[in-house]
Amino acid sequence: MTQMTGNERLRFYAMSVQSHRQTFARDVAHGLAAPQKCLPPKYFYDERGSQLYEQICNLPEYYPYRSERDIFIAHASEMHAEIESLALVEFGSGSATKTRHLLAVYERAGRPFTYCPVDISSTMLRETAAELLRAYRHVTVHALHADFTGRPDVVRRLPLEKKALVFFGSSLGNFTREESAVFLRRTAAIMGPEDVFLLGIDLKKSPEILVPAYDDAQGVTAAFNLNVLHRMNRELGGQFDVRTFEHVALYNDEQGRIEMHLRSRQAQQVPIAGIEQVVSFAAGETIHTENSYKYTVDDVRELGHHANLVLRRTWFDPQRYFLLALFRPL
Ligand code: AVI
Repeated sequence: MTQMTGNERLRFYAMSVQSHRQTFARDVAHGLAAPQKCLPPKYFYDERGSQLYEQICNLPEYYPYRSERDIFIAHASEMHAEIESLALVEFGSGSATKTRHLLAVYERAGRPFTYCPVDISSTMLRETAAELLRAYRHVTVHALHADFTGRPDVVRRLPLEKKALVFFGSSLGNFTREESAVFLRRTAAIMGPEDVFLLGIDLKKSPEILVPAYDDAQGVTAAFNLNVLHRMNRELGGQFDVRTFEHVALYNDEQGRIEMHLRSRQAQQVPIAGIEQVVSFAAGETIHTENSYKYTVDDVRELGHHANLVLRRTWFDPQRYFLLALFRPL
């Protein structure tokens, strides 16, 4: 469905997004029945969870947000020189805070340009689009409301000739290795010879830096993790006593990833009406709620290589904590 809005510089496209309640119930039933209980990390982001994530980005321990932002501040003009006049298509655009550094360079160039935010939240898309139209005179926004996880080819819906596909914030790190490989292959499949793919990804580093980034002193990440229990209570009629669970963050060296878990402090039975089940927990048993994979530059090159993408440029923050990688088709 395409919806023209009153503003000629804004078009809104919507793909059918599955009813949220149904998929949440299905994923919870499936995840909590697994031998290692688990939940997909996308359920962190209800209204409260999204606010907590914004707070996380401002924590002293959570370096990824600042590191990526510093790369934009220092190198946005160089990125723009590579991308030139291509329409910018952003997966998981959210409030597009960091992307504005790049959009500002487009604006300063004084030529019309197109920005296509793709997001699962239509409210966020509309708010962001409205703000960008106010901030930039030369921008046309083609907003796409879609769940792009697993299917980046939803952007085919947009009437674009040449494009720069961008995926920032190390969100790829929250995909499994297999999901990341599929995402890159499918992204490569929709790229024309002059298109580019720009990826922001967190790099491997010492667990002394990694673990506190996911287990901060103020307990904001703990609240973010525990919020998914509140959400199951509210939306699925769960009866979790949140105080009987604790936040756990650890670095799994073998897998090269941070893992977040919720650990039950006691043996207990939790009824969840919305899935018609009572879920049993042994004392110390965990629900695995998130993986955040960390990469080396070689891992990133390799990932691209398997998708027929060539790593053409890299930009780092001064500490080399984070990488912005530009790929072109082989
Ligand atoms: C969104 N994503 C890249 C964040 C990360 O670092 O994996 C989510 C997050 N989880 C805990 N803190 C931040």
